[in-house]
Amino acid sequence: MSQSVNPHKKTLTRVTCAPYIPPILRDELEALGHEAQNEDHVAIDIGATLVECLDLCLKLRTAHHVLWLLSRFRCPSPEALYTQVAAFPWETLIPNDSFFCVTSNVTNPKIDNTMYPNLVVKDAIVDRITKHTGARPDSGSDRSRIVIHLTWKGDRAWVYLNVNGVRLSDRGYRKLPHDAPMRETLAAAVLLGAGYDGTRPFVNPMCGSGTLAIEAALIAAKRAPGLLRSNYAFGHTMLDLDDTWRSARVAARKLGTSEGVPPILASDHDPRAIEAAKRNAKTAGVDHLIEFIECDFADTPMPDEPGDVILNPEYGLRLGDQSVLEPTYERIGDYFKQRCPGWSGHVFTGNRDLSKRIGLRTSRRTPFMNSQIECRLLTYEMYSGSRQTQG
Ligand SMILES: C[S@@+](CC[C@H](N)C(=O)[O-])C[C@H]1O[C@@H](n2cnc3c(N)ncnc32)[C@H](O)[C@@H]1O
Repeated sequence: MSQSVNPHKKTLTRVTCAPYIPPILRDELEALGHEAQNEDHVAIDIGATLVECLDLCLKLRTAHHVLWLLSRFRCPSPEALYTQVAAFPWETLIPNDSFFCVTSNVTNPKIDNTMYPNLVVKDAIVDRITKHTGARPDSGSDRSRIVIHLTWKGDRAWVYLNVNGVRLSDRGYRKLPHDAPMRETLAAAVLLGAGYDGTRPFVNPMCGSGTLAIEAALIAAKRAPGLLRSNYAFGHTMLDLDDTWRSARVAARKLGTSEGVPPILASDHDPRAIEAAKRNAKTAGVDHLIEFIECDFADTPMPDEPGDVILNPEYGLRLGDQSVLEPTYERIGDYFKQRCPGWSGHVFTGNRDLSKRIGLRTSRRTPFMNSQIECRLLTYEMYSGSRQTQG
């Protein structure tokens, strides 16, 4: 059968992420040789081949999805959506005995039921494949196989192959989540947003399930985070990408090195957290790069050379109670002053009132979203010998 989808054709590719992440994602894309063509608050458009998208799935640390454009068209109505989607040669992409899922992002005042466009796209795909092959694939909400994404804005529509399927943040290493774990892509964005590049020591008191320390180790060891999982949506399509995928994985693996990785320390006062963090680091293959210590955050041993220290304390909205947490935030200020001269201290929190208890002047406040909660990464430059005051 002739292959109608050309994986070597450069086409519009939408790389999505959480709010506030695009500037960090843009740096990642540029470092991989991709120029941003367009950007909004949750995505960056680039031009890429499907083959390049496989590389992006392996290497991007802060992206959620890599969407490769299959078709775009004028779409004034659901009828036009059906006709245009049915015109695409799906029988060359989706096996008739497979399973696919349709997701969408619709901004059209005429459509009030957000599930309806998904149903129209699903019907158009199934009808097309049935007509051309005599058999029909199944469909549903499971994203672990082929995922087709529709963006419909006003009278324009874009239909993408979601190259990764399951969100890229699901790296596969977090077998034990412990309490309030950070999403892996958020942890990577916090590190990169803090300026961490893996060349200085990193200390992560209050490590919980270890996400920040594990992502730091992946950055320092130049390990492509996408190597940690094997299931990607493109692998379920009819496109023959096995050799390309194998070469991309081999090349990505060659970039990784444990040589010269500066110290990475993770501590928590809860032994269950340390147990979870160790297990997760082992699954991620970076346990040899992280020293785990069970202790109060203020007793975390600091490497001789200064670097970055990041704490993600509970912030009273989901866990713990604000008044109980106030002394902890006050102690973080003391800890920075007494134990961290010369270090860049960072606190990731979603509670402004509590952050004021730290009592030091921030040099930077970087916004992030953690689920639906607006958070800040507060940065304190702890210059050796300088006086820090309330800011
Ligand atoms: C919000 S969780 C951190 C989640 C972590 N970023 C992750 O991705 O799993 C906060 C952690 O701080 C720890 N913690 C709270 N108070 C502490 C203290 N005084 N000393 C050490 N750890 C503490 C808790 O045990 C918990 O694991």
